[in-house]
Order: sequence, then C-alpha cells, then structure tokens
Amino acid sequence: MADTLKVFAICGSLRKGSYNRLALKVAAENLPAGMTLDQYDRLGEIPPYNEDVKQQGFPPVVEDLGRRIKEADGLLFVTPEYNYSVPGVLKNAIDWVSRRPDQPFAGKPVAMMGASGGMFGTGRAQYHLRQTCVFLDMIPLNKPEVMIPQAQNKFDAQGKLTDEATRKFIQDLMAALAAWIKRVRD
Ligand SMILES: Cc1cc2nc3c(=O)[nH]c(=O)nc-3n(C[C@H](O)[C@H](O)[C@H](O)COP(=O)(O)O)c2cc1C
Repeated sequence: MADTLKVFAICGSLRKGSYNRLALKVAAENLPAGMTLDQYDRLGEIPPYNEDVKQQGFPPVVEDLGRRIKEADGLLFVTPEYNYSVPGVLKNAIDWVSRRPDQPFAGKPVAMMGASGGMFGTGRAQYHLRQTCVFLDMIPLNKPEVMIPQAQNKFDAQGKLTDEATRKFIQDLMAALAAWIKRVRD
C-alpha cells in the first residue's frame, strides 16, 4: 500500500472568484505530511443527468471523474450552500458517478467543508451532503466541522485568507482526514 495519501477534491462552485475555491486553495497549502491533493476542475463540463444518455454510455467526462474518485484514498468536498442545500452542479456530478456499475464512492473516506455569505457557513448544505454520503456508502469524517460563514469578510480583495482561525480549522480538517483514511483502512 502506498504511503502517500491521495485526496481528490471537488469544489461545488463554478464561479471564478469562488470563496469555496479559495478555501480549497488554503487546504492545498496546509496538507499534513504525506498527503497530496488533486483538485477537480471539470465540474462545469458534466452534462445534466439523463438516463437516456446513460443508456448510450457514460460521457467521457463522467468516466474520468469516476476513475479519479476510484483511485483516490479519500475525498474532500468543498461546497457552497444554495438555498439551504448542495448546489445542483455538485449534486448532478455525484448523481452521474453514483450510477457507474462500480460505484466508486462506496467505502471512501470523505471530508467536507464550505464557505458561504450567510451566517451558517454552509451547515445546512453539508448536512444534506452527509445524507447523500450515507446512501452512497461513503465514510464521512464527522469532525471537525468546517463551516466558514460570512466568507466575504474572511478573504481580502486578492483572495487571500485573512482569518487565522479559519486557516487553523482547515489545517485541522486535513490532518483529521489523514488520520481518518488510515483508520478506515485498518
Ligand atoms: C442560488 C443561490 C442560492 C444561495 N443560497 C444560499 C443559502 O441558502 N445560504 C447561504 O448562506 N448562502 C446562499 N447563497 C449565497 C452564497 O453563500 C454565496 O453566493 C457564496 O459566495 C457562494 O459560494 P462561492 O463563493 O464559492 O461561489 C446562495 C447563492 C446562490 C447563487
């Protein structure tokens, strides 16, 4: 078994200046020793789920996503909150991959975090995402819960995180994910 822990990260926002993408960048800069982070950048290419399209064969972009999930030792979802839930584009991607015959989410250790403009820092979206994790047999890490409220006050105009407590939460999450992956393996 390889010593390096390969984490595959999916950000649920397509926005260029996304706070969630900035938070993911902070995670990438604060990995524990021995962990690598592969950041997904094709979410906007995934077509809307359509069973008729699936019957013709999975789109190559979905095959690629499924393979990258399968190959990862753990997953990191970085999700915005849209109307108290997970953004449609993220849920759509999960829905596609969930229909693959090998169901690559099964047994996968998962961490999640999110940044929002509101006061609850994506808590409601994360709890919905956790429901999806249950059905797909993922193994989500419970704590720490990293919910970044009022993200517009936590990053400066250059996109740099200015809130040290948030940096520490993100760092702790990545360390906890490393321990979680090892625990799930044992
Ligand atoms: C369709 C839509 C729904 C939203 N719903 C919520 C919400 O339920 N709770 C919340 O805190 N913010 C909500 N917001 C505001 C987002 O938190 C804010 O746009 C945030 O910056 C999105 O994340 P991003 O910066 O990574 O794109 C919503 C935004 C959009 C576009």
